[in-house]
Amino acid sequence: MSDPRQITMIAFMQAQNCSNYTGSWRHPSSHSDFLTPAYFQRMARVLEEGKFHVAFFDDRLAMPDRYKNDHVEAVEGGVRVVKLDVTTIMTVMGLASTKLGIGGTGSTTYFEPFHIARAWGTVDHMIGGRAAWNVVTSVNDGEALNFGRDTHVDHDHRYDMADEFMEVVLGHWDTWEPDALIVDKEGRFADGKKVHRLDHKGRYYQSRGPFTVPWTPQGRPVIIQAGQSGRGKQFAARWAELIFCSVRNIEHAKANYAEVKGAIAAAGRDPEKVVIAPACYVFVGETRAMAEEKFAISDSLARPIDTLALLSEAINFDFGSKPMDEPFSDQELAQLTGMHGMRDRVIANSGKKNPTTRDFVEHSGRGRLREAPIFKGTPKDVADEMEAWFKGRACDGYVLATTEMPGGYEDFVRLVVPELQRRGVYHKDYRGTTLRENLGLPMARRGDWRM
Ligand SMILES: Cc1cc2nc3c(=O)[nH]c(=O)nc-3n(C[C@H](O)[C@H](O)[C@H](O)COP(=O)(O)O)c2cc1C
Repeated sequence: MSDPRQITMIAFMQAQNCSNYTGSWRHPSSHSDFLTPAYFQRMARVLEEGKFHVAFFDDRLAMPDRYKNDHVEAVEGGVRVVKLDVTTIMTVMGLASTKLGIGGTGSTTYFEPFHIARAWGTVDHMIGGRAAWNVVTSVNDGEALNFGRDTHVDHDHRYDMADEFMEVVLGHWDTWEPDALIVDKEGRFADGKKVHRLDHKGRYYQSRGPFTVPWTPQGRPVIIQAGQSGRGKQFAARWAELIFCSVRNIEHAKANYAEVKGAIAAAGRDPEKVVIAPACYVFVGETRAMAEEKFAISDSLARPIDTLALLSEAINFDFGSKPMDEPFSDQELAQLTGMHGMRDRVIANSGKKNPTTRDFVEHSGRGRLREAPIFKGTPKDVADEMEAWFKGRACDGYVLATTEMPGGYEDFVRLVVPELQRRGVYHKDYRGTTLRENLGLPMARRGDWRM
């Protein structure tokens, strides 16, 4: 991390018809050209003007169709139903920017390690060493059904698989020594002794190599992870360079920060070299009244189907199959295979060991603005809160979601960024060109990830 410590800013984006806030596609000022490069490139320029470190793309490998086992309501409501391939979108954005880091989500459960290593390695070359990979184990049966399986892999089992998956991906990225490429037209293309086979034969994966993408400008893409369960946090502590989290308020954020930094140290890594960033929303206006008005417009866009479809998707349970006030049994709760972090948060927030569907709707905040902390008001109000979280060690940065595209980011860049810069907690310019440089991370070295 930079010295003095500075906020790391990440934009929480979706390669689809809406922002993280599903209702955003209806926002009067949101652009609707999401199937064109212009939409994403416009966003890249706005974010780079605001010196964001990373534009990050969430992903899921299915529509949210677990609710009533049907997609029609989700499609009609535009509930995150378009999902474009993130590596293409990362490249498109990378070509419209020069410093902005660009991250995309890739599943360890439904892709092969070789595929992920090659796709992200290629993007990292194409955008000059600014790529990041958000490692997810995926969440639901819809994803399984799209990839030739009937049901999703069990929660902890998929993290065990993911640990080995990481060894294969990072192993492949190491197989080209940094100076292997020669490209001497009169002589050798590359030094054959500096390109190695991986020959991985493990419990879950086999992959021989040699890998087909040379060492990238930053060595390898930056690793992002956002597991929220105990097992998920343990995985993040072992592998991630950027950790995203979902927190309720500053007290919860501080407790989570201390816990995760402790887990990183316990995993034998330097906690100061790992950024922890909670998801949040910002509503900023030149006056408080203007900020409140922006918030009210966005807040009015959420519909009940947004919550039910996204909750069913995340928890991997059809919330249409149970009466609103019937408690989940212990066995039902134990058998849920989706996001355990969200399940556990509902139990904690509701204070009920056996919450009902209504409790899940109420206490997850899913599909609505209160799913994440909200910083609202004048630029000073917003900067006061963001600075307090940052200086109070509740976070090292933020994953900023918005409700109008690109207006929410334009507001932030125009009004909040200068205020944070004036206070000395946000960089005035990028330090270098690769994402590792801009995050204050050392250049990757072969094998540095091995314990
Ligand atoms: C900011 C943020 C972004 C996330 N992005 C994704 C994503 O793109 N895809 C996904 O499946 N899960 C995403 N998640 C969820 C986690 O990666 C993880 O899948 C989820 O918490 C389930 O893991 P758990 O059971 O360990 O909690 C995100 C979480 C946060 C806080």
